[in-house]
Amino acid sequence: MELLKTKIQTDGQVLNDSLLKVDSFLNHQLDPQLMFKMGQEFAKRFQGEAITKVVTIEASGIAVAVMTGLALNVPVVFARKKKSVVTTDDLYCTRVYSFTKKESNDIIVDRRFLHASDKVLIIDDFLANGEAALGLANIVHQAGASVTGIGIVIEKSFQPGAGKLKQAGYRVESLAKIASFSNGKVNFL
Ligand code: G4P
Repeated sequence: MELLKTKIQTDGQVLNDSLLKVDSFLNHQLDPQLMFKMGQEFAKRFQGEAITKVVTIEASGIAVAVMTGLALNVPVVFARKKKSVVTTDDLYCTRVYSFTKKESNDIIVDRRFLHASDKVLIIDDFLANGEAALGLANIVHQAGASVTGIGIVIEKSFQPGAGKLKQAGYRVESLAKIASFSNGKVNFL
């Protein structure tokens, strides 16, 4: 998506050889027009798939997931992060390890919001190691629902996440694919 790539080039900040700071439009301050257009783009790519629900994880996935749900006219569910293990009969729960933050979080979704009949589109802001997306897919499967696809705003293609998700058989649609960072610049695939 050219608009997103331009935004990354102009407003993104390459922190080192693996991290990109985009807090001026995606991770802290949000650009609503861009979010809206990204939601429309995901909806276009997954048109005809009869998606019934968009699922994301707090916090940074929520904005673009809402716009995607708006464009597809379906509800949006965000997994919550919990510090402690929560095991009641009313929740789907799985543990997600963040390589970037070097911590594990139990993520939970209330059973009322996912059903076996759901066809789910998973949305997230970054794809790095793929742990977050795999955790969300795990929760969808616990509900007996199916994962129709995974929509990612920024895929860091030099990290293992995209490969892991494709290996697991998921359709992955990324709006911007980054091949590498060099001399403070972003090189797209
Ligand atoms: P994964 O998301 O593919 O599993 O990879 P990883 O465990 O490395 O990512 C952990 C967190 O770090 C995620 O945010 C992810 O979005 C974020 N992240 C990964 N690479 C980058 C990057 O290059 N730049 C930025 N800005 N973030 C990155 P999170 O913990 O879910 O945080 P949030 O959604 O609450 O912001």
